[in-house]
Formats: sequence, structure tokens, C-alpha cells
Amino acid sequence: MAAKNTGGSTAVQPNPESAAGEPLAPPPPAAPAVATETTVSFRPGLEGVPATQSAICDIDGNRGILTYRGYPVDQLARQSSFLETAYLLIWGELPTIFQLRDFEHEVKMHRRVSFRIRDMMKCFPASGHPMDALQASAASLGLFYSRRALNDPQYIVAAVVRLIAKIPTMVAAFQLIRKGQDPIQPRDDLTYAENFLYMLTEQEPDRTAARILDACLILHAEHSLNASTFSARVTASTLTDPYAVVASAVGTLAGPLHGGANEDVLDMLEEIGTIDQVEPWLDRAIAAKQKIMGFGHREYRVKDPRAVILQGLAEELFTRFGTDPMYDLARALEAAAAGRLGAKGIYPNVDFYSGLVYRKLGIPRDLFTPIFAIARTAGWLAHWREQLGANRIFRPSQIYTGYPERTWLPLEQRPLPT
Ligand code: ACO
Repeated sequence: MAAKNTGGSTAVQPNPESAAGEPLAPPPPAAPAVATETTVSFRPGLEGVPATQSAICDIDGNRGILTYRGYPVDQLARQSSFLETAYLLIWGELPTIFQLRDFEHEVKMHRRVSFRIRDMMKCFPASGHPMDALQASAASLGLFYSRRALNDPQYIVAAVVRLIAKIPTMVAAFQLIRKGQDPIQPRDDLTYAENFLYMLTEQEPDRTAARILDACLILHAEHSLNASTFSARVTASTLTDPYAVVASAVGTLAGPLHGGANEDVLDMLEEIGTIDQVEPWLDRAIAAKQKIMGFGHREYRVKDPRAVILQGLAEELFTRFGTDPMYDLARALEAAAAGRLGAKGIYPNVDFYSGLVYRKLGIPRDLFTPIFAIARTAGWLAHWREQLGANRIFRPSQIYTGYPERTWLPLEQRPLPT
């Protein structure tokens, strides 16, 4: 759609009701387009509009290839670790053995969170969503560490380490606090994923389970300019502190159109119930134009490469810890959907199998998105650094659709609603 660009600001037109039940403001009329100097193409959701240049991650949606800094994600998931991948994303190159050792050590040294933050979290309602708890906790780090010394390389390194180190501790702390327990301290003898599982479950972590969780973190660490990463870059572009950058991205990830689909996949599989119901359920859903959760992606026309890897990880888990009947259901749904939706390029995305993996790891459903946030913190920080490297504050234009200029009326002269 071609539209005129005013470059001006909008007037917000709230329309709540007064105590007497009458609208507090009439709905704005459809406004005539205002003539201006430039004509631009308006794309809702900025679909297909390049909003930045980035060297961090590339997606080939036709061939199903995802690379971080040029390395295919399947190689990283099989051979790297989450911390090594985070280092690669944030600093641009794979670390040397010494750089990795230092990074792992620094992260280990900064896993603990202040008792003040833990006490703050104890005041959060136990019924609150863990993503809201995480957003508030991540923002609170800015109270303790903000200097906004964005030209100081030491400050940048310290902020990266603190965020990568403390976000999992805060997710695990809220999980125990909401159950009425005190959070437990991180253990320095455990790896990143082992320690997270330990802090979450208070049990000695299983090595295979931790390795699979680590691979899941790699798969979720980065995915170019999606909504939360865009949010991170917009916030970064104001030169605020990195804790505000991550907190704003966490808030954006929390929405059901972005981070929450893996929870919905399990709800959907529960609704389908049994394998003999897969085809009739799918036919009804397609006829009703219902979206099949965990299927489809704006970027991919083939099966999401992360879904392929996650399926393998799920099978590894089932071999070790016993099968999950929901997995058979999921495979039957994938097979049935291929015949019905494959021609449109709709195949499983990253969320289709990740929920099954987390379920087998014994992780509560509402922690799936916070775990996504733990992983994506690496990507957000990579984009924060890249944004600072060539910063220009984001300030897009808009197409004004409100009233033309008009004159304020005293209360007694305003017409009453009929
Ligand atoms: N099930 C059935 N049909 C689908 C699905 C689906 N999951 N996804 C897309 N389609 C169909 C649409 O009905 C539409 O068909 P039509 O052209 O006949 O009307 C066509 O494919 C295009 O659909 P859009 O919604 O325009 O595709 P878009 O690229 O905007 O959507 C999205 C991508 C939002 C992921 C969509 O596929 C979807 O809603 N999937 C289900 C939710 C989901 O799994 N989200 C997680 C995504 S991964 C992530 O964010 C981490």
C-alpha cells in the first residue's frame, strides 16, 4: 500500500468508558490522508523492510539453513557449547582455548545475584508469570550496575558476563520462590546447563539432560531481526544501559505471537488426545482456518533446521529416560500435516519439538519461554554491541490517521453524546 508520510507524531485516542457508562472519547473519524513531501510504501509489521545491517546470523529459508557468524547451527548444536556459541555471537569469532576458559570462569564467578534482588523477587506474586518476574529482575540489575559507560570496553565485557551469568539464576530463583522455598546458590563445579538444572530442581543434574538442554540453548540463541531482537536494538539505540536493553527484549519475547508457541503445542497435542484423532482433528482445524501451533514460519519454506535438530534431541532423551506418547502424536501430526500444508511451505518450526524436550526434562510449561530468554540473551547482547558499533537512534516515521487540527472547547460547550 502506498501512503503519504507526514513524519509527524500521533495523537493517542483512548476510548474508555466514564463512570456513567458513556464513552470518554468518541472514536476518531477515518481521517483524510495529509499531503506531504514523500511517498513511501507502508508495510504493516515492517514485513520485508530491512531495518538494520547485521553480520550476526543468516537464514536461508528455502534451503533450511541457519548460520551464526557463518557457522551452521547444526554444527554448533552438535559440537559447541552454549557459552562458546554465546562468545561467538557476541564477539564475532570462536574463542581460543584461553578465551573460552576465561569467559566460562567469569560467568561462573558472576552467577550469584544480590540478596536484595532475591528479596525483591520474594515480593512478586507467586501467581505471576515467570516472564514478568524475569523482565522485572533483569531491569533491576540496572539499579546495581548501571554506569552507562558505553565507551569503556571493560564495562561492556562486565555487562555481557553479568547478564549471561545472572539471567538463569533469576529464572531458577523465581521458580523456587513461587513454590515457597528459598532460592539455592549456584554451584561452581557445574557447567552452565548443569547448574541451571540444579538450581531449578535442587537435584544432582543428569549429564545427558544437561547436554541436551545446552544444545537447546544454542538453537534458541539467535535468529536475526525478530520482534524481541528489534526491540533490543531500538532500546540500545537510545544509548541506555544493557540491562534495560535485555529487559525490553524479555518483555517483547513474552507475547504469545513470539515466544509462547511451544507451550501451545503441548496444549494442542493434549486436545488431539490420540493418534486416531490426528487426521480428523487436522482436517477440522484446516477447514476452520485454525493455525496449527508449531507449524509455519515467516522465513522458512521447509522444515525449520532447528526443529530437525530438536527432534533428534527429543529422541535421544526418550531413549535414555523412556518414551513420551505425545511424541508419537507429534510425529503423526507432522506426517498428516505434510500432505495437507506442505505445498504451502508450512512445516514444523522450532517450537514444535522444543516443548516435548523441555517436558521430558521435567521443566514446567510456563518456564519454556524464560528458557528461550536465557538463550536469546546471547543474541540480544550481540545485537546490542553491533548497534553501538554503528549507532543511529531508531525513529521511524508514521502515517497519521487522526483528526486534522481543531480547536479546544470549554466543557460546557461540548456536545453531549446522544
Ligand atoms: N497452520 C495452518 N496454516 C498456516 C499456518 C499454520 N501454523 N501458518 C501459516 N498458515 C497459512 C495461513 O493460513 C495462510 O494461508 P492462506 O494464504 O491460505 O490464507 C498462509 O499460510 C500464510 O500465513 P501467514 O500467517 O500470513 O504467514 P506468516 O508468515 O505471517 O506467519 C507464523 C508465520 C506467525 C509463524 C504462522 O505460521 C503461525 O501463526 N504459526 C503458528 C504459531 C507458531 O508456531 N509460532 C511460532 C513461530 S516460531 C517463533 O516465533 C520462535
